[in-house]
Amino acid sequence: MPHPKLKLSRREALLAGAGAALAGAIGLPPAAAAVSGRLTAKPGRVQLVGPSYPETEVWCYGGRVPGPELRARQGGRLSVAFDNRLPQSSTVHWHGLRVPNAMDGVPELTQAPVAPGDGFAYEFDLPDAGTYWYHPHQGSVEQVGRGLYGPLIVEEPEPIRVDREAVWVLDDWRMTQEAAIVEDFDNFHDHTHNGRIGNTVTVNGSIPETFPVRAGERIRLRLINAANARFFALKFTGHAPRLIALDGQPCRPHALPEGRIVLGPAMRADLVLDLSGRPGERFAVVDDHYQRFAYRLLELAYEAGPPLRESPLDAPVALPANPLPAPELGTALRQRIVLGGGAMGGLASATFRGETLGLREIAREGKVWALNGIVADRIKMDPLVTLKRGRSAVIELVNETAFDHPMHLHGHSFRVLTRDGRPVPHGIWQDTVLVAPREKVEIAFVADNPGDWLFHCHILEHMAAGMMGVLRVA
Ligand code: C2O
Ligand code: CU
Repeated sequence: MPHPKLKLSRREALLAGAGAALAGAIGLPPAAAAVSGRLTAKPGRVQLVGPSYPETEVWCYGGRVPGPELRARQGGRLSVAFDNRLPQSSTVHWHGLRVPNAMDGVPELTQAPVAPGDGFAYEFDLPDAGTYWYHPHQGSVEQVGRGLYGPLIVEEPEPIRVDREAVWVLDDWRMTQEAAIVEDFDNFHDHTHNGRIGNTVTVNGSIPETFPVRAGERIRLRLINAANARFFALKFTGHAPRLIALDGQPCRPHALPEGRIVLGPAMRADLVLDLSGRPGERFAVVDDHYQRFAYRLLELAYEAGPPLRESPLDAPVALPANPLPAPELGTALRQRIVLGGGAMGGLASATFRGETLGLREIAREGKVWALNGIVADRIKMDPLVTLKRGRSAVIELVNETAFDHPMHLHGHSFRVLTRDGRPVPHGIWQDTVLVAPREKVEIAFVADNPGDWLFHCHILEHMAAGMMGVLRVA
C-alpha cells in the first residue's frame, strides 16, 4: 500500500508494512544514516498481561506495543510515511527531537490533523544523538493511553563502549480483570488530580519476571516513560548504575541521587549498568515512587555461566555533547510561567476563551489547569511567550498547584539552571522538567528554532484540562 505522498525508496520497500521487520532491520548498529519506513497506526490485539489472560485490544503502531523501534544515526535523516488507520484523526510527534516546526506533529498548530485513512510524510534531520520516543499529539489521553507510542534511538557516531544495549519502554494501563482497557478517558478526577494512573505496569509491552544478565557485563540501559501520568522511581538493588543522559541529552556521568532514577511522564534516562553480581544471583529492580505502593518491576537474573570479566570494564562512559547552543544568561530575555489550578490549588478564576471566569465555571467544561492564568481551550492559541529568534531565554517555572508537573517544551532542549534558587549540578539538559508543588525551576535555552511550539504538562490529562500554551520563536 504505497503512501501517496512519499516515493518508495529501496530501503523503504524493505521496511514497508512490517513493524517487526522495521525494528530488526534498522536495530542493528551502526544504524544507517538515512532511515525511512512506514508507520501505521491502527487497532490491534496484543498479549500484554500474560498467557493466562485474554489479549488486550489496543491502538498501536505497526501492530505491536511499543511500536517499532526507529533507530538512526546522529547527523542522519529520518523519513516516516505515517498511515492513519485509526477510527479518529491523529498525528505523530517526535518527542524531544529538535525538528523543523512543520514536522512537529501538533494538530492545528503545526499541521492539519491526519484524518482516518489519510497519511502524512514526516522527514527531518537528526542533529542530536540520544533516547527519544514518538507518540500521537491528538486526543493524547486516549491515543497514548490505548498504546500508541514507540522508541526512537539516535546513535552517536562513536558510541561509548558497552557489551550491549537495552531499551525499556515503561507504561501503565488501567485494565479490567479481563485485561481490557478501561475506557474512562474523560475521568474528571484524573484530570483534576494525578492523571490517569493505571493498575498494570508493562516493560516493552509485557510483564516480565526477569531480565537476564551476565556477570561482569556492562549494559547501556535506555529508559523511556511512555505512561500518561505515572511516575517511576527505579532502584537497582545491589547495583550502582550511573546516569549518563537525561531526555536524550548527555550529562556528566554520576551516581543516581538517593540511588534511584525518577522519571516523570515522557522523560528518558540513559544508564550505564555494570553487572557486578555473581552468576546465579538475582536482584530486584524496585519502583517506589508511590511509596505505599512500592513494587518489584522485575529481577535482574544472573546466568549461571562464568563472568564475562572479573572487574568492571575500564572504559569511559561520558557521552559526547550534542550540538546545543549554550544560552547566554547575561543577555537572556527573562520570562516566568506560573502553573496554576487543579484540585486544592486555590486558583479562584482564570481566563478561558478570552473571558475571566471562576474556576468552577471553567471546570464545567472539563478544564481546571492554567498557565499564567490562562486555561487552554484548544491548541491554536495566542502565544503565552514570544521569544526573539536566536536570543537566549531564561524561563522561571513557578508551580502554585498541589501537584507535580512534568513540563515539556517542543522544538528545543533546555538547560535546567536552578531549583528554588539552588544550582542544578551535572550539566543537565532536558525537554521535560519536573516541577514539584510550590517549587520554582529556572530553565534556559537559545530560541533558535523558529515557529509556534507547544509548552505543556506531560501528564496528558493535565494537558487536556488546560495546562498548555504556545511559545513563539520569531
Ligand atoms: Cu511528548 Cu507535546 O509531547
Ligand atoms: Cu501537570
